[in-house]
Amino acid sequence: MINNTTKQQILDTVRIEEVVGDFVSLKKRGANLLGNCPFHNERTPSFTVSPVKGFYKCFGCGKAGDSITFVMEHEHFTFPEALRYLAKKYSIAIEEEAPSAEFIEQQTQRENLFTVTAFAEKFYQDYLWENEEGKAIGLSYFRERGFTDDVIRRFHLGFAPEKWDGLLTAAEAAGHQQELLEKTGLIIVQENKKYDRFRGRVIFPIHNLTGRVVAFGARILKTDPKSPKYLNSPETEIYYKSKNLYGIAQARKSISAFDSCYLVEGYTDVVSMHQAGIENVVASSGTALTIEQIRLIGRYTRNISVLYDGDPAGIKASLRGIDLILEEGMNVRVVLFPNGEDPDSYAKRVSTEELKVFLKEQAVDFITFKTKLLLSDAAGDPIKRAALIRDIVETIAKVPDAITRSTYIKHTSDLMEMSETVLIGELNKILRQQDKKREGTPPPNAGDPFLPPPTEEEFQEHEEPINYLDATVQEEEIIRVLLHYAEEQFDFVDLGSDENEPTRHRVIDFVISVLRDDGIHFTNEAYAGLLAAFSVQFDEGKKYNQQEFLQELDPVVKNTAIHLLTPPYELADWAAHQIEVRDEKTILHKAVIDPIMYIKKKQLGKMREELLQQLKARIEAELPYDELLEDFNSLNQLQAQLNRYTNTVIQK
Ligand code: UTP
Ligand code: MN
Repeated sequence: MINNTTKQQILDTVRIEEVVGDFVSLKKRGANLLGNCPFHNERTPSFTVSPVKGFYKCFGCGKAGDSITFVMEHEHFTFPEALRYLAKKYSIAIEEEAPSAEFIEQQTQRENLFTVTAFAEKFYQDYLWENEEGKAIGLSYFRERGFTDDVIRRFHLGFAPEKWDGLLTAAEAAGHQQELLEKTGLIIVQENKKYDRFRGRVIFPIHNLTGRVVAFGARILKTDPKSPKYLNSPETEIYYKSKNLYGIAQARKSISAFDSCYLVEGYTDVVSMHQAGIENVVASSGTALTIEQIRLIGRYTRNISVLYDGDPAGIKASLRGIDLILEEGMNVRVVLFPNGEDPDSYAKRVSTEELKVFLKEQAVDFITFKTKLLLSDAAGDPIKRAALIRDIVETIAKVPDAITRSTYIKHTSDLMEMSETVLIGELNKILRQQDKKREGTPPPNAGDPFLPPPTEEEFQEHEEPINYLDATVQEEEIIRVLLHYAEEQFDFVDLGSDENEPTRHRVIDFVISVLRDDGIHFTNEAYAGLLAAFSVQFDEGKKYNQQEFLQELDPVVKNTAIHLLTPPYELADWAAHQIEVRDEKTILHKAVIDPIMYIKKKQLGKMREELLQQLKARIEAELPYDELLEDFNSLNQLQAQLNRYTNTVIQK
């Protein structure tokens, strides 16, 4: 741990303009400096740095902070990593301090878990290579699948005995505590019964970046419709599914060396590609790709090739992943395998040389991929064709870099035989909509490319806290949607659920329960009153009927309702989208979700701001702040999750 004197020395020495200046080109403007914000995509600079105050603030996306938060956010550093980075930059010698008792306890706990997972890995491995059952069943299974002994060892593959207490007995004999065995998820404890989670399955240990075992995937050997093909460790203190990629420890060197990374779906795909001599490969392990996983790859390369099996589920999953990769400003190519094949089966069927040629020749950029995928559908149908083009342009709009965007536009224009001007017009429209959406409490000039950047006065003024929770516009939107569509249904993949399958929701049920669950109260009196009326309706479980609903309303809010039900207060988006023949369900889902997400983000933004202040105060007062920092980090994660959902930059 870095001691407090060093921390203070770092804070005293750093100059915000130099720290930021390493990443952003800054121009002087009065007492401040100005540049293009590195946290969101913008055409006119609204990112302001105040050397006097030691702060930066973006008037476009609202991000603000000091030198430490800047490198934390920009480089995805943890707090200690940020301090070390800054110390190095300013050649400050770091004095370490004995870590706190709490910290030691936490580390010890993690270490203990690692001891257990390492024990289990060795147990399963030994069982595979030395035990008769393991050899006869597990090892021969791997060999039948064509895995060489070498690659089986390289991935530490193993076998779990077909017993309730194979690992349990061995672990207890070796002195491992039941509590720790349970915490790693290897042993399940239920009403005084305890037993192995993995039984009679081949084992794929999952390693973290540094190569330590954090979890396991276990494959069944026979086909059994009653049990899942793979069982996996649950999330634990050392295993976060969304942050981990299978094979990253074995692949990282090769990813850097080749400056590219193959992303596959399954454990066996990784192993087989390694065997074929392609080592820059990791797997998302069957779950939807996350931002954290993309950033993990992003530490080593900006180039990702997504390899997907040809089944519809795989393709659907790949489209979401592609958008996420592009949003991170990374380059993505896609390789689609022939139906019924995955990288594992294909790698086994052809020679290494053929596989390499296949990967090279089949890799297409996302535009070609989407076009190929959807064009056959759209052939000869001008409306479908228009929808496809819009779909592609929407994806292009996610790319943060303007030059890259224009290359993609050019490419689309060639491919779709369509004028660039029209495409650019469409793109700009989407970009403008995004800008508009980003503005809740519009900061000066944000999003408008034609106004000058903020002045010193405006900068000063906006350091005063703005009312983060003013969400009148969104409240209005929610009420408007309810008034129009309360009884309608829409499909939606629940946030945070592992399922990719959307569930059907009635608009009123969804809105009222989400708002209640999150303790969101409306601030505008009239909208709060209308929400209360909908709430009663929801509790009574009655079918929503617009006329009846209006009749029963309190006269004070009735006018507001009528106002919202008459043009020009029809949902502008709705009408616009209808003209473009978009799927109505998609729009309804957006109309319901977006304003709610927005309010949630605002709530989080406020909490984050408050925490940040507390954190700074504590650091200044040299008080312990580890716990606060943890809260801060989980808030950031939550925010990122929401942002992923709404595809907008972080809002305060
Ligand atoms: P696949 O069904 O494609 O399996 O799932 P696979 O990796 O090709 O395995 P083989 O070749 O049939 O042996 C891809 C990934 O999804 C996760 C696993 O990580 C798997 O590698 N998965 C799949 C599960 O976690 N549970 C399951 O029941 C199925
Ligand atoms: Mn497979």
